[in-house]
Amino acid sequence: MQRDIEKILIGRDEIATRVREIAERLAADLRRELEAEGDPEAEHRIMLIPIMTGSIVFVADLIRCMPMKLSLELIAVSSYPGQTMESKGAHLKSELPEGMAGKHIVLVDDILDSGRTLQLVRSMVLERAPASVRTVVLLNKRARRAVPIEPDFAGFDIPDEFVVGYGLDFDGYYRNLPDIAVLTPEAAAGDPPEGDG
Ligand code: IMP
Ligand code: MG
Repeated sequence: MQRDIEKILIGRDEIATRVREIAERLAADLRRELEAEGDPEAEHRIMLIPIMTGSIVFVADLIRCMPMKLSLELIAVSSYPGQTMESKGAHLKSELPEGMAGKHIVLVDDILDSGRTLQLVRSMVLERAPASVRTVVLLNKRARRAVPIEPDFAGFDIPDEFVVGYGLDFDGYYRNLPDIAVLTPEAAAGDPPEGDG
């Protein structure tokens, strides 16, 4: 795996620091809204919805920095088929969770690229009459935006480079890299590495 890495774009320590910051800001924002509602049981109404599979590592770290009562419901969205790096549009691969009406929904994704995934999910969630919807992404590739959507909370703005690691994959692999990295041209082209792999 290491031989496929051209460079590390964001290292694990930098990620950890930033994830903690985002969690604190998000938690404070949710608390402010709940206090304004004056409902002492309101924490029961926070529902985090990570978009699988890319957000799996991010959400695991994020929720452990949020000392409040919240529920977690996963959804799966397909955004680019097979090996290609171009988003061909998004479609939902799972049912939306039940019970979103009246809840404070937080959509969590690994990266905002064309924006189609988050826009699709957000619009479907809004149809279920939630109390509020927030969007959180670890990475933001502004240059690639194809639809008008901005995240409420974002970790890092990154250039238009395809990245892997910390949950992000290329063709299903590299999600387990602890850092966010750019692949070598050979690995990104899907060529088998030299030698005995
Ligand atoms: P969007 O619908 O184009 O915004 O794409 C969002 C999804 O595409 C993300 O949830 C990722 O799964 C995937 N994606 C976009 N850019 C990258 C990348 O640089 N590396 C890995 N996955 C990516
Ligand atoms: Mg994804």
